[in-house]
Amino acid sequence: MNIPKEYSIDSPFHYNSFLINGELTLWDGPTADVHSTIHTPNAAGTLAPTYLGSVPNMDAAHALKALDAASNAFDKGKGEWPTMKVADRIACMERFVTLMKIQRDTIVKLLMWEIGKNLKDSEKEFDRTVDYIVDTINEYKDIDRDSAKFHNHGGVFAHIRRGPIGVVLCLGPYNYPLNETFALLIPAIIMGNTAVFKPAKHGVLLIAPLLKAFKESFPPGVVNIVFGRGRTIATPIMKTGEIDVLALIGHSTSALSLQDLHPKKNRLRLVLGLEAKNPAIILPDADMDKTVQECIAGTLSFNGQRCTALKILYVHEEVREEFLSKFTKAVDALQLGMPWDNTLLTPLPEPNKPDYIQELIDDAKAKGAKVLNPRGGERTENYIFPAVLYPVTRDMRVYEEEQFGPVIPVMSFTDIDTPLDDMAASSYGQQVSLFGKDIEKLGPLIDTLANLVCRVNLNSSCQRGPDVYPFTGRKDSAVSTLSVRDALRSFSIRTFLATKDTDSNKEILRELLDSHKSNFISTDYML
Ligand code: G3H
Repeated sequence: MNIPKEYSIDSPFHYNSFLINGELTLWDGPTADVHSTIHTPNAAGTLAPTYLGSVPNMDAAHALKALDAASNAFDKGKGEWPTMKVADRIACMERFVTLMKIQRDTIVKLLMWEIGKNLKDSEKEFDRTVDYIVDTINEYKDIDRDSAKFHNHGGVFAHIRRGPIGVVLCLGPYNYPLNETFALLIPAIIMGNTAVFKPAKHGVLLIAPLLKAFKESFPPGVVNIVFGRGRTIATPIMKTGEIDVLALIGHSTSALSLQDLHPKKNRLRLVLGLEAKNPAIILPDADMDKTVQECIAGTLSFNGQRCTALKILYVHEEVREEFLSKFTKAVDALQLGMPWDNTLLTPLPEPNKPDYIQELIDDAKAKGAKVLNPRGGERTENYIFPAVLYPVTRDMRVYEEEQFGPVIPVMSFTDIDTPLDDMAASSYGQQVSLFGKDIEKLGPLIDTLANLVCRVNLNSSCQRGPDVYPFTGRKDSAVSTLSVRDALRSFSIRTFLATKDTDSNKEILRELLDSHKSNFISTDYML
């Protein structure tokens, strides 16, 4: 294999520290080895999963220490961070983003090796995250400018701001281990919350180079980063009842079991991005070449390992043959390569994923589906070539389960109520892609689809971005809304000072404003 020099792993990355209460402490306990599913020659010259390095495999006691540090930093709302001036919190975040940028090359390289994301998308993940932080800072300034005033209604003055909620447990997914995790963590802390953050199951080494940047940018205890198994770390933390916000992007089963551990569920705010089964609906008058192109990107970008991926295609019977013929050819023309080759298809980071996808294919075949593309189901040690399955029926696992990988179930329809009824019955409701031109058909269809999901993509594949747009879902697909602005709202609560409009109260307000004794009561604003 020809690995460009700048992307080769010359020596493993042994990261052996964790961040609790502003201290980068060396871990002398057990560690967890990190391997890539990309095979390279080992010491004995045999091809094997590449050894990338190790991270601490921490225990419940340290998880609780991290929680204590976050709770103490919040200090029941009295802490330095939650009471700090907005301008000062923003200054900390600006420092962080400057330090983060220095780590771009290492993080991009680790994204490729740890999760198999291609170079272009790995760079995009990093750059998009930096942009997200910068946009978050600007949006927060805007929110702060809007709050820098007094209202007077019904004889009551009010000074209304958005305040932090408390301590956040932040858990991100492996497919966007940097971007999605930071899309939770950054708005959470900038609003004055404090956090415990555990990196995802894959894409864990790439967080380690940022520990120093966190330490140098924020007061002790604001961000605490621990490594280990989700169950070992998150379970004891949730059981204490001291978590105010569970911020998780992942599977609803994890979100549910963590919620259930909290002794006072009514106090727990949820910010969740969960699984989805986004359909494409292809109408008879759709532009077939463009539809095929969008369906390739929608189903197979990052091998379909995106919550927004198209996970089932509904094709109108009139255009089924044409679509399937063009689509299967386009799928089989795709190249499987290494991340630095920038191919669409790259090794799957989960060692069991090819077997799981194989199970879905076998189950569908046993129940009457065919693999339409000749290369569908071809196996390598870390890959299974995307199979286009048709006709898929509701009793098949691939119809029900979120495959999160390279397999494409297709159904056909003549009555539009078929996909609409399926969507209404589905546990998910994130997005849909609708392909067609006739506004007589599209108009009423969009009206219905908008009530079944939270984003209708017309003649385009589903996606989260641009990040300024709301990202959410119905049913089991999400709780709360994330976008640059919405996330700041999700991680805060409106809180205000109110006082009756009397001369003596006005005098006190004036003195408070002039003296700058309060960071909360202020009409100063940032430009
Ligand atoms: O895994 C879910 C991601 O939020 C999808 O984001 O549409 O930008 O790939 P994306």
